[in-house]
Formats: sequence, C-alpha cells, structure tokens
Amino acid sequence: MDSVSSSSFISTFSPKPSLLRHRSSSHLLLRINSAVIEERSPATNPSENNGRRRQTTLPPRKPKKLHNHRNPHTAISSPAKLRPEMNLATALFTTVENVINTFIDPPSRPSVDPKHVLSDNFAPVLDELPPTDCEIIHGALPPSLDGAYIRNGPNPQFLPRGPYHLFDGDGMLHAIRIRRGKATLCSRYVKTYKYNVENKTGAPVMPNVFSGFNGVPASMARGALTAVRVLAGQYNPINGIGLANTSLAFFCNRLFALGESDLPYAVRLTSGGDIETIGRCDFDGKLAMSMTAHPKTDPETGETFAFRYGPVPPFLTFFRFDSAGRKQRDVPVFSMTSPSFLHDFAITKRHAIFAEIQLGMRMNPMDLVFEGGSPVGTDNGKTPRIGVIPRYAGDESEMKWFEVPGFNIIHAINAWDEDDGDSIVLIAPNIMSIEHTLERMDLVHALVEKVKIDLVTGIVTRHPISARNLDFAVVNPDFVGRRSRYIYAAIGDPMPKISGVVKLDVSKGDRDDCTVARRMYGTGCYGGEPFFVARDPGNPEAEEDDGYVVTYVHDEVAGESRFLVMDAKSPELEIVAAVRLPRRVPYGFHGLFVKESDLSKL
Ligand SMILES: [Fe+2]
Repeated sequence: MDSVSSSSFISTFSPKPSLLRHRSSSHLLLRINSAVIEERSPATNPSENNGRRRQTTLPPRKPKKLHNHRNPHTAISSPAKLRPEMNLATALFTTVENVINTFIDPPSRPSVDPKHVLSDNFAPVLDELPPTDCEIIHGALPPSLDGAYIRNGPNPQFLPRGPYHLFDGDGMLHAIRIRRGKATLCSRYVKTYKYNVENKTGAPVMPNVFSGFNGVPASMARGALTAVRVLAGQYNPINGIGLANTSLAFFCNRLFALGESDLPYAVRLTSGGDIETIGRCDFDGKLAMSMTAHPKTDPETGETFAFRYGPVPPFLTFFRFDSAGRKQRDVPVFSMTSPSFLHDFAITKRHAIFAEIQLGMRMNPMDLVFEGGSPVGTDNGKTPRIGVIPRYAGDESEMKWFEVPGFNIIHAINAWDEDDGDSIVLIAPNIMSIEHTLERMDLVHALVEKVKIDLVTGIVTRHPISARNLDFAVVNPDFVGRRSRYIYAAIGDPMPKISGVVKLDVSKGDRDDCTVARRMYGTGCYGGEPFFVARDPGNPEAEEDDGYVVTYVHDEVAGESRFLVMDAKSPELEIVAAVRLPRRVPYGFHGLFVKESDLSKL
C-alpha cells in the first residue's frame, strides 16, 4: 500500500444510525450516526503502551520516569489497547444516553449535527499514528527547520451519537519532526483526565460543553445523568473535564497542550518523534481551574503572560509566569462586569490588552435549559470594550477601559507601544457578525484591523488593512509585543475551511490594502493556521520576514495531506518544500514550531 492510498478517506451517508468505536485496524468502517467514515491506517501498527498519566504540579523536570527506555516509542497509549469490556453501570448509563440522543433531543441544528460538523476533512482520524516516515515530493526541507511543527485540533475519541460541536473533540496533536532534511509524522491524543477516564471506561462519560444544552427535556436528562455518573464514581470533575484541543505553547522550557476550559497539559516529543503526555499542570498548586489557550511569551524577557475567564466574578483574572516558570499572583479584574468570551489577548512591552466583546457566557442557567444552545451566546445590547492594564500591575487600579462599538475579536495578532508612550497599536481580526461564531461559521467574516488606542485622550481609531476574510494569523514570534511589520493570515473561504494564506505589511498606509503576498492552495485543497519560522532564529540582524511559512494542507480530491514550507519573503510565497504525509491530518486549530534546541530541553 503506498502512502497515498493508505490515507484514503470516504465520507458518505447511510440510513441507519449506529455507533462503532475507533479500533486499531488496517481497515476500518465506522458510522457517525448516519455518516460513514472509511479509513485505512498505514502499514505501521501503533505501538503498545501504558496509557496512564498522572497530574503533575509543574516546574521544569524531565519526565524520564514516564519513558520506556527499552523502546522510546512505547510510552503512550493506543486507544485500542486498554479497552475493557463495558461494565454493567457503564452499559446502563450508555443506554440512558442513547435514549436521550434518540428520543429526547430535538432535531439537530447543523452546528451540532455530527454529519455536518465531521464532514470532509473535519472527520476524526480513527486511531493514533506512531512516528512514520514522510516522503518529500517537492524541493528540500531547509536546515533551519530542524525541529518539529506540532498542531492541535479536535479528534473525538468516540464517534458522537448525539449533538456534537466542532469545539467538543478530544485534543489530538499532529507533529512533523524534521531532522537533517527528513521528516516523520506522529499523531497522538493528549492524554487528558477526560481521555483516560473514557478510554478506561470504554465509552463517553463526560458531557459535551458546547453541544450538551439542547432544550429543556434533553438538558435536564443530561444534567441528571451527569450527576448520577459523578455520584457513581465514574469520574471526579475536580480533575478537570478539559479537552486540551486548542493550541500549544512553549515556555519555561516546557511544552503544553492547551484548552481554555482546563489547566495546561505538559507534553513532550521523544528523540524518535513520538508524542508523550506528561500530565496536567497546576504550577505547584498556584494555577487554579483554567488558563487561556493563547498565553503570550515575551521574546526578550522570557516571561509568559496569561489569564483565565469564567462565569462568576471576577470574570477575568490576569497573571504571569516569570522566566523560570514560577507563576506569579493573580490579578482579578472586577471591572469586567459581564462574562465575556475571552479567548485571546495581546501584550506590549508595558501593557496587556483585553477585549470584552458581545459574545459571552449566558448568565441565566435557565435560559440554557429552556432555550437550549451553547453556554456561550451573543448580547447585542452590550458595547464592546478594550481594557488596557500595565502588565506588571499588582491590581486592577490602573486598568483603563475604552468603548469600541462594533469591535468583536476572538483572536489578537499583535500589539505594541507607540514611541510617544501614550498610545498602543493593536492588530486583530474583527468579526463582523459575531452572532454567527458558534452557530453559523459559514457566515463569519473577519476583517483584520489596525487599532490605535490613545491612552491619554481615550480616542480609539480603527482601519481595516484587508477586505479578505482573515483569521488564524501570526507574526514572527521574535516580534510578539513589539512593533511588527508582517502578518501571515489564513484566508477563510468557504468558512470554516482555509483556502490560502496572505502576507500583510501593516506599515502601508492606513487606507491601503496591506496584502503584499498570497498563495492559494488550489481547487479542493484547504489548509490550516500558518506559522512563521525564522531562517536564522535569534539573529538580531535578520530581517523580520526572513524565514518560512509552514502549514498542513489537505487535498480533498486526492484524499492526501501535505506539509508545506513557503518562502516568507517571496512575493508568491513560493513553496520551497512539500512533504506528503503518510496519513490524513484533519483540519484543526492552532500549532507552533519548536526548534531542535528546545525539543532537547523537554
Ligand atoms: Fe484560538
């Protein structure tokens, strides 16, 4: 079987609902309710492993005790290896859940209909992939790419029987390890507490946060079932129910898989390119409940800034880690008066910048029960605000808020202090119809804006810098928090698929389209978030755009995934290397590149 046919993938529909579990097999046929997914695994079998992970209380220590030295590829579980027979209680709970899915749930909305959500290359891969050699089909991998590009994304361990939102899937990491011009691909679940409990149980146990509220009868039934599961000891929510499916971050010589509903999970890459989950990190007991999936590390000081948000005051809590990875004290922000959906933020050398937007957590739990839908909803009567706080503030007394009508951002790209010291520039994609974010992603259009905030006068000026629908944007990581010129952004078309990448030059005039380079992936080909890798990292003389733009791209016609390396300085974003991946990589969320010298610290 060659590497193309080994990743073949079919999604069709059948009339009979059913569920089969992912299984390790050379040829699998599974159903998502009425959606059928067929996938052939590569010839290499997943390695045997222990599948057990434990909670850890951070700082830097090497996870050697979790590593099997006889075989560096045997430290991570394969889902198929540990599945016990379902016990009586689990069978009973699963039957009740099936009754809710089949007889109580109202007809599925497209946003939570698995047949819709998991169509095309959004469908999960059916098992993990151990490190597997890749074929370079164009050009050559440059020496400065020695390291690993790792991308996170949702990949449900169990094919959903009921409502399922794109954000509800278990986190899976897809790592392409590059060394001396050769590459291997490895795909592993993040072994979260949720993953391990459900893997051991042999069935889904924890409720889906984004799709679990589905009208009065179904919400009440699921609530009761969840309570019974906890009382019966199936799981303990104090250990977190997070998915770690959103992003990765490297700071304090540790690599983390992140999801904002839980604590970070420390992970590492072995020398053979395999992915190991080390454990859930509470940073010596100092980090409570959750942390953003978009922390920001200052490239000069090595400090990392982060926050958490929640449904009860303080709705925002700001904090940082020093360069040694020690978490500093919380700064609760009570001046945020309603629970905004705070997914991302920005830093400058002096400030942290938050956006309070119209998308927020629904305060009245009875609305969730009676109206159904996600726990996150839109408040059209609220005026969006930008909040600026000194990044070393001990409390919120110096925080300033600026009303910015119509400014609803999910992601921030970068920010910096202007030379006068009295103003800040923020670059971010503004979502024009925020109400569609969760229910109708196909209608979402985001305009990247350059926003100038005068901290003295309170005047905020805004200029869109491109008319395209752009998000999942990055800058050269060495320029986080300081004036940057270039942005690499994904083109959403048709949403939520990504048809290409653009390079923007924000130094162009405020009323000009700032696009300076573009690459479309071609008919039927869709990519993911781009990431910038410097050709000569750490060289202060290097030009900001001297490097490569990398991403995964999937060809839906050929059923083949590739890793692309593009020349960031080229006007065409010329492809300098294309790697055929041994298996499909589903569309996902955020990733990063970790250079070889940093991988060796893990
Ligand atoms: Fe994000």
